[in-house]
Amino acid sequence: MSVSKESLNHRTVFELYSKKLTGVIATPEVIETVNELHHLYSKLTAIEGVLAPSDTDEVFEELSENGTRVNPYMAAYCFLDYLRSYKFTLGIKKLIDDKLNQGNQKPLQILYAGTGPYASLILPLTTVFSAHQIQVTLLDIHQSSLDAVNKLISAFNLEAYFNGYIKADATLFIPDDHINYDIIISETMDKALRKEPQVAIFNHLRQFLKPDGAFIPEEIRVDLYQSKWDEEKNPAFEYFLDAETRKHNAAFREKITNLMAINKHSVTIFKRTNSDHLLFLKKIDPENFKAEYTALLLLTEIQVYKDITLTEDESILTEKDYLSPLNDRILQSGLSFYYKMDNDPRITCG
Ligand SMILES: C[S@@+](CC[C@H](N)C(=O)[O-])C[C@H]1O[C@@H](n2cnc3c(N)ncnc32)[C@H](O)[C@@H]1O
Repeated sequence: MSVSKESLNHRTVFELYSKKLTGVIATPEVIETVNELHHLYSKLTAIEGVLAPSDTDEVFEELSENGTRVNPYMAAYCFLDYLRSYKFTLGIKKLIDDKLNQGNQKPLQILYAGTGPYASLILPLTTVFSAHQIQVTLLDIHQSSLDAVNKLISAFNLEAYFNGYIKADATLFIPDDHINYDIIISETMDKALRKEPQVAIFNHLRQFLKPDGAFIPEEIRVDLYQSKWDEEKNPAFEYFLDAETRKHNAAFREKITNLMAINKHSVTIFKRTNSDHLLFLKKIDPENFKAEYTALLLLTEIQVYKDITLTEDESILTEKDYLSPLNDRILQSGLSFYYKMDNDPRITCG
């Protein structure tokens, strides 16, 4: 089969920047590397990472039964959440390395649920692992995303790594042949586990994970804080570079408790809820709240794998989330916290 000069050039650029993204690099280099890959991916797929595809297309999210799903342009835009993309890549690499070193049967079977148009969390890793080591099934709810990923796979000549391209809702998907996976990757979340179906997807896909299988991310934690809200600042546009604001805000807050820690063990109890029944998380007694604070906040931390984590403002997914004012009623009676798991999932309190 003849390979055109242009596609050879695309492959060379892909390999160069992908290898970079799988190594240890400083933040400015992460930004440059992700931008270069985004430039290449968007050119080849004609899908650019933007918040809304056109002036007339304001709605960039659609509701589904188990949460909001982002459209392919927004999914592409997620790739430009630089530290998110970098740390997920590093975390998945470390997990694959660990599994191969532990002598797991090869190739490792990986399900990537919610690929977006670039399958961006797995493509770069094809430059450091062989198709004998990893076999990936790609799944997304949008056919246009799968079609776009297909273009990248053929442009970079990566067909040998992929054994399925499935258009399905990951909260309902049943794999053929009773296959169990070594690794299930899904980043289908927003801050504080709201709006998007991450918990429903992990709850459903848990049954298809091998007993020693792993989720990426390994754990998602949402903590409750009380805050002197009027003293807090919002981070700069380039939130991931703004350590100053993070430090400033920390001085005006106090952690109360952890509300959710979603991992492959805990997720099994997170079943769909309805208007009569929400999932109870915790009751916090009044003595835990202090009158000097004015608001309740949710802070998200993502443990991608082991020590590779995303903390506040390192990613859009870990921005602070204002939950409610801290009023006299809460100071007197305390507050109960619930998770609502329907087409608009979120933590609620009352
Ligand atoms: C936040 S984007 C992430 C894209 C890509 N994995 C990345 O990390 O850059 C989430 C992707 O999940 C897909 N998705 C959302 N809900 C889904 C569902 N219930 N089943 C399958 N895919 C879903 C969306 O179509 C979108 O492509």
